[in-house]
Amino acid sequence: MELFYRVSLQEIVADALTLVEERELSSKHALERIFSKVEGRDREKARGIAHAYVFEIEKWRAKIDFIINSVLRGSKVDDLDPYLANLLRIGTFEMKFKGVNPAIATDSIVRVVKERFDLAKAKFVNAILREVEKFDVERALKKLKEKDRVEWLSVRFSHPRWYVEYVINLLGYDEAVRLLLSNLRPQRYYIRVNTLKADVDKVKKYLEENGVRVAYTPVDDVLKVLDYETPVTRLEWYKRGYFVIQDLASAYVAHVLKPEPGERVLDLAAAPGSKTFHAAALMENKGEIVAVDYSYERLIKMKERMKRLGVKNVRLVHADGQNFKDERDFDKIILDAPCSSSGTYRQFPEVKWRFDENKIKRVISVQRNMLLNAYENLRADGEMTYSTCSIRIDENEENVLFALERGFALIKHPFNWGDRGFLEIGERVFRTWTHRHDCNSFFIAKLRKE
Ligand SMILES: C[S@@+](CC[C@H](N)C(=O)[O-])C[C@H]1O[C@@H](n2cnc3c(N)ncnc32)[C@H](O)[C@@H]1O
Repeated sequence: MELFYRVSLQEIVADALTLVEERELSSKHALERIFSKVEGRDREKARGIAHAYVFEIEKWRAKIDFIINSVLRGSKVDDLDPYLANLLRIGTFEMKFKGVNPAIATDSIVRVVKERFDLAKAKFVNAILREVEKFDVERALKKLKEKDRVEWLSVRFSHPRWYVEYVINLLGYDEAVRLLLSNLRPQRYYIRVNTLKADVDKVKKYLEENGVRVAYTPVDDVLKVLDYETPVTRLEWYKRGYFVIQDLASAYVAHVLKPEPGERVLDLAAAPGSKTFHAAALMENKGEIVAVDYSYERLIKMKERMKRLGVKNVRLVHADGQNFKDERDFDKIILDAPCSSSGTYRQFPEVKWRFDENKIKRVISVQRNMLLNAYENLRADGEMTYSTCSIRIDENEENVLFALERGFALIKHPFNWGDRGFLEIGERVFRTWTHRHDCNSFFIAKLRKE
């Protein structure tokens, strides 16, 4: 391969894994950042290979760490220098998951450690990887299964322990296992047609002419990608903004809210804009959408996308959705709150390792502040959707109950697909599950200001 980045694949992957962890970037964004410094004929090919590595290592991290921790005996991979830990993960992944010759896998990692650290660390890593080579994973897993079945599920299917416990409580053991398995399958892609520029049937025909087989879905302007010859993002109509990639459940939110042309709409956590732009399309670019987000970087991305999609009625505002207050009230609000992202593990395996109970408590407090602030910004009788890509009751139904105590009413929306939720309001809210609906696990409730 011809590259002008004088480092090995292992170094690129270790850099990306470290960025994903420390800066909380997605695998894709971490690699975009790294490859912005890379030139050369094989740049895209190399990025593809590196992305597959990062994605798979994040997906299988609990199992990889189980192997490393077993041979470390006593200390933990998480206690090591993060970069060194990631190099060990890469070596283990190559040997135990990709079937790379152990001597070659060890050699390429040890070489990087020698360059970036010192000889003592290189010897240490060499010794650990030799132990990893000899380690019998299946035997260790069998033992673990006898001792602690929840821990076994967490390692075997590589999910955080809290998540495994949570979904067993929610769905029962057998269905929880189906959910874990479905989170490990390849991502399903959905295409939302940008009705500002195209219509569904024309896009369907265009895609099929270009080797992308698609099917209709319960959401009118969304098509399910069954298989493809070329990634849809390389197609001309994608570049022209005739369609976007958007998850099926996420693309249902704007339909549930049903903003009308001419209305004033507020999106309190808008970036990167999927739901804002969908609302703009349903409003035929008429009226106004104020799109608020806390992240400046994500708003900049949103601005670029907006241009491509021909969206003209959106005002971007860099502010905190917990206290942003506009001069005039809004007819409708989208609150697609920041959350534990526990419904998106198939799409973003890295988020599995990002949240613990404390962090979840903090995000719930932000969600509640945003709900209270939505109330302040909504006109009397105005409507809003509250949605998250979380599976948890405390981020969903319990927050809706919180909103009901503070002046909101729950609208009995006629959801035409998906499942209902939990607690006493369960029949009036919307949920999807990755294993049941082949999209992100998702939650939607529709509220009215009394
Ligand atoms: C679930 S994402 C929103 C996705 C977006 N609605 C879409 O459909 O593309 C949550 C967003 O909330 C933003 N966020 C987090 N805390 C915030 C806050 N206090 N105020 C405003 N936005 C916030 C994050 O930057 C992130 O863009």
